[in-house]
Amino acid sequence: MVKVDLSGAIGFLDGEGPDYGAAGVAHRALAEGTWAGAEFTGWRQLPRRVQGEELKKILAAAERIRDTSEVLVVVGIGGSYLGARAGIELIQPKDGPEIIFAGTGLSADDLNDKLERLGDRDFSINVVSKSGTTLEPAAAFRIWKGVLEKKYGAGAKKRIYATTDAHKGVLKGIADAEGYETFVVPDDVGGRFSVLSAVGLLPLAAAGCDVRTLVGTAAESMYALDQRGPENPAWQYAATRNALYAHGKTIEILACYEPSFRYMAEWWKQLYGESEGKNGVGIYPASVEYNADLHSMGQYIQDGPRTLMETVVSFERPRRDFEMPFAMGDPDGLNYLAGRGLSDISRVAMEAVKAAHIAGGVPNIGVSVPLRDEAGFAELVCFFEMACAISGYMLGVNPFDQPGVEAYKKNMFRMLGKPGT
Ligand code: PA5
Repeated sequence: MVKVDLSGAIGFLDGEGPDYGAAGVAHRALAEGTWAGAEFTGWRQLPRRVQGEELKKILAAAERIRDTSEVLVVVGIGGSYLGARAGIELIQPKDGPEIIFAGTGLSADDLNDKLERLGDRDFSINVVSKSGTTLEPAAAFRIWKGVLEKKYGAGAKKRIYATTDAHKGVLKGIADAEGYETFVVPDDVGGRFSVLSAVGLLPLAAAGCDVRTLVGTAAESMYALDQRGPENPAWQYAATRNALYAHGKTIEILACYEPSFRYMAEWWKQLYGESEGKNGVGIYPASVEYNADLHSMGQYIQDGPRTLMETVVSFERPRRDFEMPFAMGDPDGLNYLAGRGLSDISRVAMEAVKAAHIAGGVPNIGVSVPLRDEAGFAELVCFFEMACAISGYMLGVNPFDQPGVEAYKKNMFRMLGKPGT
């Protein structure tokens, strides 16, 4: 279970404390489906729902991909790719095909770079789009499918896996017509809450992650996080960040000392940004990678406008530690660290940064899980999803829609001359 440490935040709340009453009201509305967006709360049951036949089907497809492909091209944008990328980069599984993520933009250079990176290696495609009409992945799919068909002819369709709506949409139509194997983005799950469906699980499994453990842990976590009370870490996080927001901390920085966390932070930014930033309100989600960013953003965090709060994610122990070596003559003056594990040195650095930032006026929320593995990933996903829903409701918004994303799409389609726009 995720642990939340509020010791670095409570002092910024003028003795008021987090509003657990409001968190309880929000959680109850979520559980009973009485507030806006209730039709998109199926993510709470996803780990249990997926455990039977769906998981077997995902594992079988992943095995086929691993047997036949040196590369899996995952085509998708936003919630249709960030969770898979976050998990794969955090867990760093060994021995799987290389995963190339495509369809996240319209850059010709990026596309050409990726095609070159693929070279003449064997590959398959997992195209992920709930609507099937998102331009960036749709355009990328047309191009990558063309490459696949040129290489494998009629056999190409056996190498395409489509994850999309169960009944409708352009991609569903193409998949049915061509006979691709399909996976479902459930109707009651929005893109950014979909990582524990086939959207995330198929690429994760193909890359070599142990998705049985991942889903099993997620089922336990979701159950635990659905218990209502101030000891629920999702309540603690949601209520505290909202209280800090009310005290003028309008920007939340998610920090981690593991470089492999970078895409978890991207996933988190989408989850919180799309869920909360609407109707003129919302905490702005930002992220940093420590220690690297201590030497760039560190100045601003320590000394810039005091509108920041910081949430630091940590792992209780490393997968494998590394001992600082002793050097004869101590030429670099580092022998005072010799014999200490890097993880121990890093933990001290983390404590030092925390104290400095708190002294500089930046509240600190700690979030930790035991290990950087499938279980840790599952626990973080469930925790952040549950807290996001509660937090969004506490803020007074519908955390499950994203009306603001449509504005650029409308302009873009009109300016590109899409028929009917
Ligand atoms: O969270 C969301 O709903 C969005 O980020 C979508 O996932 C993203 O826009 C991609 O949409 P689609 O899967 O329909 O291509």
